Amino acid sequence: MANSTAKLELGGENREYEVLEGTVGPDVINIASLYRDTGMFTYDPGFTSTASCESQITYIDGDEGTLLHRGYPIEQLADHGDFLEVCYLLLYGELPTKAQKEDFDYRVTRHTMLHEQMSRFFTGFRRDAHPMAVMCGMVGALSAFYHDSTDISDPHQRMVASIRMIAKMPTIAAMAYKYHIGQPFIYPRNELSYAANFLHMCFAVPCEEYHVNPVLARAMDRIFILHADHEQNASTSTVRLAGSSGANPFACIAAGIACLWGPAHGGANEAALNMLAEIGTVDRIPEYIDRAKDRDDPFRLMGFGHRVYKNYDPRAKIMQKTTHEVLGELGIKDDPQLDVALELERIALTDEYFIEKKLYPNIDFYSGITLRALGFPTTMFTVLFALARTVGWIAQWKEMIEDPNQKIGRPRQLYTGATQRDYVSIANR
Ligand code: SDX
Repeated sequence: MANSTAKLELGGENREYEVLEGTVGPDVINIASLYRDTGMFTYDPGFTSTASCESQITYIDGDEGTLLHRGYPIEQLADHGDFLEVCYLLLYGELPTKAQKEDFDYRVTRHTMLHEQMSRFFTGFRRDAHPMAVMCGMVGALSAFYHDSTDISDPHQRMVASIRMIAKMPTIAAMAYKYHIGQPFIYPRNELSYAANFLHMCFAVPCEEYHVNPVLARAMDRIFILHADHEQNASTSTVRLAGSSGANPFACIAAGIACLWGPAHGGANEAALNMLAEIGTVDRIPEYIDRAKDRDDPFRLMGFGHRVYKNYDPRAKIMQKTTHEVLGELGIKDDPQLDVALELERIALTDEYFIEKKLYPNIDFYSGITLRALGFPTTMFTVLFALARTVGWIAQWKEMIEDPNQKIGRPRQLYTGATQRDYVSIANR
């Protein structure tokens, strides 16, 4: 909705651009005609002041530290809901009725198996390949097996592809883990919940019964909820840009996985635990705080800081609570890395540098400690992030495809390279 304008005086000409208001959050200046009007582009590397799209899925208030999915606070969803309920909410826009939830659970559960031929794909990877490399390959390959859900113009196929992605990511992630450790694949079990099934596929072996601890399954489910979606972050923007060309949804999600892998993004959970291990003991924390503050030192406190949150990441608070629950359930009394994490957070939150730059723990700061306690190696942490974020990627992808104003994304640039010059033969160089 536009009810005011922004004035631009340029080259002696005055122009007005409509200001669009959202239901909540910053207004936007619609500059779509700026280049046509002025022959100039805006310039915003990293898109710090750019809204790339209109969306109704997730709202973040970075100053307040709030996160809403379709209007519902993450704290309430994490406390009262389960992951598949949040998936339904993100995809359909409303919380499901009991009947809708049962139907959705049934549909997802019965899409968890992978085409049997795909299990042979794994043997093409080295055993010591990083599971994220395997996941990129396997998800990209889904479009080679599920041709009947790649026509993005067909709403039914879009929903089938969405359900398939949500259902098969745990199976692919568990197979990547089993392949990595040289154990046989464990098939999905339809009688188990989404999170319990995932833990069973990861930690069961064919030689004996494996009973999933319900407290740990609940913690896993909550960790999935916390990672489900997060507005227009780097990997979601990657999925949207890939999807804007009409690429099939499996290829778009594979692009999102590749982007999430970076240590500045989803790879930070693995990097944060490696950092805590490198610090080792509480007495070495000041040395690392000093390095994090040194502009000449590339070291950053992994799991700290955020482009949007200039307050505590609400997900980090829930993750910290989950960490204590999991360690308590497992009877882990003293975890040296948790001690380092808690002391590092205490020191950082009282340090002038972190206060001035508004650097707080983000979701990746505590997740690694929890995931390691659940039995996962650090190389699996970002795989779990990708598993959970798949629903956010696919919901944002669907929203973009169904947006009547959607067009291929094609940013421009500020060119500072050589102007035109003639070729010089090698003899004369
Ligand atoms: C995720 O976008 C999302 O929503 C992402 C995510 C999601 O759910 O999708 O929330 C998931 O990616 C969380 C972030 C995980 N990454 C990390 O924990 C890596 C460590 N954090 C940083 O690399 C950094 O904070 C970013 C990348 C997260 C944000 O970087 P910005 O917004 O581009 O900010 P910046 O790098 O420009 O930093 C601003 C200032 C800089 O100092 P100056 O150049 O102004 O002097 O703060 C400093 C930075 O040097 N700074 C840090 C720091 N993070 C920023 N200094 C030390 N340690 C850090 N962690």
